[in-house]
Amino acid sequence: MSQQTDSPLEEGQKPRQTPKALARLKSLVQKVEEGGGAERVKAQKARGKFTARERIHYLLDEGSFQETDLLVRTRAADFGLKDKDIPADGVITGFGSISGREVAVYSQDFTVLGGSLGLAHAAKITKIMDLAMSSRVPVIGILDSGGARIQEGVDSLDGYAQIFYRNTMASGVIPQISVILGPCAGGAVYSPALTDFVFMVEGISHMFVTGPDVVKAATGEEISFEALGGSSVHASKSGVCHFVAKSEPDCFRQVRELLSYLPQSRWERPPRIANPDPVRRKTPLLETLCNLDPKKPYRVHHILWQIADEHKFFEVQESYARNMVTGFIRLGGDVVGVIANNPGHFAGALDINASDKSARFIRFLNSFNIPILTLVDVPGYWPGLDQEHGGIIRHGAKILHAYSEATVPKISVILRKAYGGAYIAMSSKYLKSDFNFAFPCAEIAVMGPQGAIEILFSKELAAAKTDAEKKSLRDKLIKDYSDKFASPYPAAASGSVDEVIEPADLRLKIIRALRLLKNKRLPGQNLLSRNIPL
Ligand code: HXC
Repeated sequence: MSQQTDSPLEEGQKPRQTPKALARLKSLVQKVEEGGGAERVKAQKARGKFTARERIHYLLDEGSFQETDLLVRTRAADFGLKDKDIPADGVITGFGSISGREVAVYSQDFTVLGGSLGLAHAAKITKIMDLAMSSRVPVIGILDSGGARIQEGVDSLDGYAQIFYRNTMASGVIPQISVILGPCAGGAVYSPALTDFVFMVEGISHMFVTGPDVVKAATGEEISFEALGGSSVHASKSGVCHFVAKSEPDCFRQVRELLSYLPQSRWERPPRIANPDPVRRKTPLLETLCNLDPKKPYRVHHILWQIADEHKFFEVQESYARNMVTGFIRLGGDVVGVIANNPGHFAGALDINASDKSARFIRFLNSFNIPILTLVDVPGYWPGLDQEHGGIIRHGAKILHAYSEATVPKISVILRKAYGGAYIAMSSKYLKSDFNFAFPCAEIAVMGPQGAIEILFSKELAAAKTDAEKKSLRDKLIKDYSDKFASPYPAAASGSVDEVIEPADLRLKIIRALRLLKNKRLPGQNLLSRNIPL
């Protein structure tokens, strides 16, 4: 039989799908694509916001979006819903690509019943999340919603529960990203909180469990949306938000950049890129660190910019717990997650917020096969009543737990100070770190010289007759202690530091170690580790 006879269409025969059927589809699609209508779209734009569809087009590779469930309708009928037109039930779902890699996406449409979430809306989201899980691709949620759809009562709440359940099941399996581009209120905030990364935009995004009116009624406090739950509050105070953007396009650019460091799922490695930066590039500028007064602060970012491929460091949670810096670099083309004490803020000491921030990031890296580089310059734990009563014991333990359970390659470098419990916590040898390097100016001891001699020689110091005598004794004791302990050599002698390295070789040493560890395998390596919010 010829191919022509195989065709359902004979020569001159009309297509089986009549233009009328096609026209119907087109008109249905067009109607849904108009969202909440011209007036509400105008109001959305007047707030400086894009529409739900525009957002998807900004986020994804051009022309790559494939929509799912466009024609879904709610079956809810109470409180006038029966007579309401609710296009796409207020959320657009589908998939597409970012830099050629597939992602699943949903985008709440505030122009349709305020983007509120009813059962059909929730079902669309859970369906696309399920597809992301089975297809092993990241899921990105764009949230702009008044929360649970009041007219749908408990069904709306159950809809949220179904999303939260999936957020939890997907945790550590596929990367989950939440982009808040409007209100995110009430229990609705807990979906982003369960995901790995939260993006907000200045002046547009607001997150809170109870809004300004409820706060006023309950406590008498008067507070604006921005001061209660704006981007700057969540980026610097609560730690809920990981990235802040100045505008929606800037936000989508950042989401795309973040994804360039992530694998598609826990079964993959992050994408390797061609590296134009020589692996053997020396880092002699780092020698200045060894000439610096040990009490002098500096931003650890300078070290990261020196060693990273093309001097590029992508920081995560830049404004929160700035004494601990977290983020991504590439070394020799491979992605590495960084945890670094930052002497430029609180002397780089560990506190409650730094512990939570780093422990959660370590757990994320471990879930997604990303090696961990730890840069250590830590004087200890931040002292004080608020820290002790706030539970620094409980929070600090999270770092120990996160490093100990991590089976990905772990490399640490002691740049300067590594004292006491903080030395142990920062990926020390016996938490099963693979390579522990130290600079020649590293000081590794139970505590700093000043504190140590006050404890060890309190009687001798008290017995000194004059202030001058006391000072001279103190200076001598500090010098003796420093000569013995304020160096990397006792640790190198015991093997808890593998190698004392020249600062100029830092980049090369780390890349060589990473290459050796590329196929590192440990018992328990493939166990699922979820990224629980800490
Ligand atoms: C149904 C809603 C809605 C909701 C807004 N709308 N929120 N419809 N359910 N939750 C509708 C409005 O009726 C309006 O419809 C349209 O969306 C736009 O809302 P406006 O109020 O006109 O917009 P704006 O002035 O910008 O204020 C936005 C807002 C406000 C701040 C989000 O709407 C608001 O406070 N909504 C309620 C927020 C809230 O408390 N949510 C928590 C619900 S409880 P028309 O037809 O006039 O355009 C919850 C618990 C979840 O979410 C628990 C999960 C575990």
